[in-house]
Amino acid sequence: MTPIISVIAAGAMGGGVARRLTDSGATVLTYLEGRSEQTRKRAQEAGVLDASLEEITQRSDFILSILPPRDAFSLAQRITQQLASHPRATDRQLIYADCNAVNVTTVKSISGLFEETSVAFVDACIIGGPPKGSHDPVFYGSVHPKDIEALRSFVGLSAWGLRTKALDGEGANIGDASALKMSYAGISKGLTGLMATMVLAAHSSSPATAEALISELNESQPELLHRLTVHLPRMLPKAYRWVGEMEEIAEFVGGGEGEIYRGLAKLYGRVENSIIGDGNDIRVLEQFVNAAEERLKGA
Ligand SMILES: *[C@@H]1O[C@H](CO)[C@@H](O)[C@H](O)[C@H]1NC(C)=O
Ligand SMILES: *[C@@H]1O[C@H](CO)[C@@H](O)[C@H](O)[C@H]1NC(C)=O
Repeated sequence: MTPIISVIAAGAMGGGVARRLTDSGATVLTYLEGRSEQTRKRAQEAGVLDASLEEITQRSDFILSILPPRDAFSLAQRITQQLASHPRATDRQLIYADCNAVNVTTVKSISGLFEETSVAFVDACIIGGPPKGSHDPVFYGSVHPKDIEALRSFVGLSAWGLRTKALDGEGANIGDASALKMSYAGISKGLTGLMATMVLAAHSSSPATAEALISELNESQPELLHRLTVHLPRMLPKAYRWVGEMEEIAEFVGGGEGEIYRGLAKLYGRVENSIIGDGNDIRVLEQFVNAAEERLKGA
């Protein structure tokens, strides 16, 4: 049976996801009240149908919330209020998946809104950028053990163009998809921040130290040097966003080790200040990357 999937979304991620679903033949609804003409046009081009909240809560098999994190809770609240005033006239299961980059505490409070309802709640996270060309991000889902059937249905969205995976197994519950996203980002963005920190520190000792660092990495850790040349340039335009993300990860880790991520938040703040300021740190990082690329080529 063709599922009816509501994608309540903003931005490139939501648009790309809706497009994947419609391309696979799913019926996709969205909620466009108060959105710009341009957004409506994009939705129409993607074959997405504009619907009211009432239609969405009545007709959907799935609701995917893909929003800026600050809007995640209020959308869930509006959906549960809508359902309380207009109960569904069908006994088909409704699955609500919160796919937003919210922390564990927030996703637990969102899931709490659905506790007394017949809606099954999936804590989902998206790892990777918006769907584009041959790239598809992965959607991980985790649920309360009582909702394991809903998790299977969520994973079944792979038949409709999404890459989905179950985060199940020992101890799995609501909050784990969010925890996975933070752990993954803590490693990938943390490594980039660590490398930028040491490039800046080496250079401030002397430019010769930075040169020697390149040589030594080239010789003994070439895969790290290569990673640095790929990821440092990609990080620069995103540094401003990563400040808040590192602070969230610090909260997630907690304890003394959480301070590692407060330090990385400062690093990303420093990078951002350099971008809007004198650009000195940015030049150091870019020169290091260029020199490292040359060295890796054997120049
Ligand atoms: C979780 O996110 C909320 C909303 O952004 C914030 O108020 C809260 O302090 C965060 N809690 C933790 C433990 O990170
Ligand atoms: C860097 O590593 C490459 C590949 O192993 C090698 O060809 C090159 O000679 C190295 N450069 C230096 C300066 O060590």
